[in-house]
Amino acid sequence: MNTGMFITVEGPEGAGKTTIINMLANRLAEEGHQVLQTREPGGIGIAEQIRGVILDTNNTKMDPRTEALLYAAARRQHLVERVMPALEKGYLILCDRFIDSSLAYQGYARGLGMEEVFSINSFAIEGMMPELTLYFDIQPEEGLERINQHKGREVNRLDLENLNFHHQVRKGYFKLMELYPERIFRIDASKPIEEVYQQAERKLKEILNGKI
Ligand code: TYD
Repeated sequence: MNTGMFITVEGPEGAGKTTIINMLANRLAEEGHQVLQTREPGGIGIAEQIRGVILDTNNTKMDPRTEALLYAAARRQHLVERVMPALEKGYLILCDRFIDSSLAYQGYARGLGMEEVFSINSFAIEGMMPELTLYFDIQPEEGLERINQHKGREVNRLDLENLNFHHQVRKGYFKLMELYPERIFRIDASKPIEEVYQQAERKLKEILNGKI
């Protein structure tokens, strides 16, 4: 089935994105879609190296603009090396985090400004915006609590930000939903996993059916 489409999944920490993406990818593959499930930096050597620098808990001196530029650089490499070739082959791409993460985390929560962060990212992505973005919404307190209970998940430099930062991230995502109401679809991620999955699947199918 040739359904080349670029879909991104977004949300604050602990919203359960990864679990739901796994479930969606399996279901779509069973139905005969060619699916590429990926995440930034997606195992791309150059992008992984950049990510190592960004998320290293020792890098406490990192300037916010440096952080934003590094995310944009890693994004570029992953897009060119993995996403674009698969899209050309007609794959349905499910990508865990993309430009909206930078707009919410660096643009809004870090206070760099969404427009400024958008402009460095537009250099990186050259207009390759997703056709659909599923935003998994959860209160930061609840999301962070889930992470704490989820032993084995590494704690990264951004997890260590205070609760206020995570509230700002969420506000950033709400701004993005206002800016892109046709592209970003909110999913209530505080519900039990099966219900969250169903909300996501319903929306995805709606978009896919409109396209095929
Ligand atoms: P990751 O371990 O991938 O977290 P998650 O499982 O929540 O996706 O770490 C990515 C971290 O980087 C996460 O805290 C969000 C943050 N981030 C940004 O601040 N800006 C970005 O552009 C991206 C892609 C991620």
